Amino acid sequence: MTVPVIAIDGPSASGKGTVAALVASRLGFHYLDSGALYRLTALYARLDEIELDDEEALAEAALTLPVEFRDSQVWLAGEDVSEEIRAEVIGMGASKIAALPAVRAALLERQRAFRQAPGLVTDGRDMGSVVFPDATLKIFLTASAEERADRRYKQLINKGESANLQQILDDIEARDARDAARPVAPLRQEPDAKRLDTTELTVDQAVETVLGWYQSLVVSGK
Ligand code: CDP
Ligand code: CDP
Repeated sequence: MTVPVIAIDGPSASGKGTVAALVASRLGFHYLDSGALYRLTALYARLDEIELDDEEALAEAALTLPVEFRDSQVWLAGEDVSEEIRAEVIGMGASKIAALPAVRAALLERQRAFRQAPGLVTDGRDMGSVVFPDATLKIFLTASAEERADRRYKQLINKGESANLQQILDDIEARDARDAARPVAPLRQEPDAKRLDTTELTVDQAVETVLGWYQSLVVSGK
């Protein structure tokens, strides 16, 4: 029997990570935050002074990245970098290197290795289109750019960091535009993905919607 996969793709700060982790926990499935792998590669490049256009060196780094996902934290070479990789400068770097085909190829098998029983919930940009094209359920999770900027703003304020709403909105729109314009694995809704607009939804409502869709697929035996 093939291991079920729920693939959640969508733009920055739409709630993919939050919703995917909660759905995984409710189903007892594994969870893969694929964006973390791109962020880790960008962080590694920064620490190792690799230029963000050195495709060969970046692909090598992506392939051999000493990463661990443990205790809900992300570790790079034995160091907890969970907070560090969330910085927008790393998100921007991730978006730049994510446009390089050799980097995406290097991360492909690493991502597929997370497909383990009893199931996987994963989020990113190309989980349903490229990494798990046979996913059981594909979702395009989105929200208005203003709502997404507001969510990021609140996340930063809650962490005690300073934040500028307009700057966050500009950064989100710039990153989405780059992710949507690239020729390889662009950010877009696939024809076989269900659209979930969470602009007016709470996290719980979004989680229940995903679980409801998944249960109806399981019941109908698809
Ligand atoms: O992974 P992604 O960048 O798409 O988003 P995230 O890091 O999960 O951040 C989304 C933030 O918006 C979190 O603080 C959530 O609590 C909040 N939020 C949400 O995810 N979904 C809603 N329907 C409402 C709020
Ligand atoms: O949390 P947020 O949605 O802001 O970003 P993320 O999911 O952590 O991804 C960071 C960057 O990595 C994105 O802007 C994409 O350029 C890239 N990425 C990708 O190309 N493909 C994926 N499957 C996941 C992330």
